[in-house]
Amino acid sequence: MSDIITAIAPVNIAMIKYWGKRDEKLILPLNDSVSATLDTNVMCAKTSVCARPDILENEIWLNGIQTSFSNQRLQNCLNSIKAIAREQQSVNEELLSWNVRICSVNNFPTAAGLASSAAGYACLVTALARLYKVKTDVSKIARVGSGSACRSVYGGFVRWHAGVQADGSDSIATQIADSSHWKEMRVIILVVADTKKHISSVKGMSCAVKTSELLKYRVQVCAPTRVKQICEAIKDKDFSTFAEITMKDSNQFHAVCLDSYPPCVYMTDVSHKIVEVIHKYNEICGAVKVAYTFDAGPNACLYLLEKDVPEVLSLIKHIFPTTSDDFIKGLDAPTTHIDLV
Ligand code: PMV
Repeated sequence: MSDIITAIAPVNIAMIKYWGKRDEKLILPLNDSVSATLDTNVMCAKTSVCARPDILENEIWLNGIQTSFSNQRLQNCLNSIKAIAREQQSVNEELLSWNVRICSVNNFPTAAGLASSAAGYACLVTALARLYKVKTDVSKIARVGSGSACRSVYGGFVRWHAGVQADGSDSIATQIADSSHWKEMRVIILVVADTKKHISSVKGMSCAVKTSELLKYRVQVCAPTRVKQICEAIKDKDFSTFAEITMKDSNQFHAVCLDSYPPCVYMTDVSHKIVEVIHKYNEICGAVKVAYTFDAGPNACLYLLEKDVPEVLSLIKHIFPTTSDDFIKGLDAPTTHIDLV
């Protein structure tokens, strides 16, 4: 029986979105994307794995409930790690022949559509790589679980390179700067709805690739320019450029969703109200102090600097009287999570 190996991986939120694959099987994106990884003490997944001769079939438990292991992406991650272990002869064949038990928990609502699969797969492959003692770039393997998971393998600001190779060998994540680089950066998550997204990212992306004209322009022109500009803004700690690019890219991503046929609508009236409030606030301040970004769901992620947190929090609470608010404090990237449901 193996040791029990436990890993943790946080959620990441993209400023330059990944939307559209050039290879569905290998999960190779059409464009580079850039994200920030939240604090490990805040929103993260924790996964424990072990291999034993008495486990009759591979098992996976998510938040205490046993779930089917039939998911192809899950199997791909396990098989990829085992294949590398065989190649590297990092463990004996007996350990590789035993079934695994995987137990994963999230310290935030899984159904809230808050990038739980990214944290989950990043965590899973990190734990499996330790179990089988493999030495490899785990971001490449996390990618075949859920594309954006490759970015959760690193902390701080991360870029996922689309790569050019057909086998995906250069489609990896790299760190732009670690979390100590921009200490003043803060994130506020506004939970508009805690239900599961009605159109999965797999479906939404595939529809956009097939039908959206705007996606072609985004991939060729906007995304490469924005990736370059935001990497520079991060290095220079230039918040207003960072914020403007983040908001423009979120808006273009949702425009691509609407340009898909049939359209994918992820934002709600409350999401649009948040956009309006942030623009109004920035206008009154005479400076871009807050940026919003929305993934494939109605929940907002706000990026702002620490000095502006109290004012923005009181503004949000005033405009959206909340039924509950839950402050989650972290060390290097404190995140506040407000429930607007
Ligand atoms: O990795 P997936 O399949 O969950 O897709 C993530 C897509 C977005 O969250 C909308 C954008 C991104 O880059 O994270």
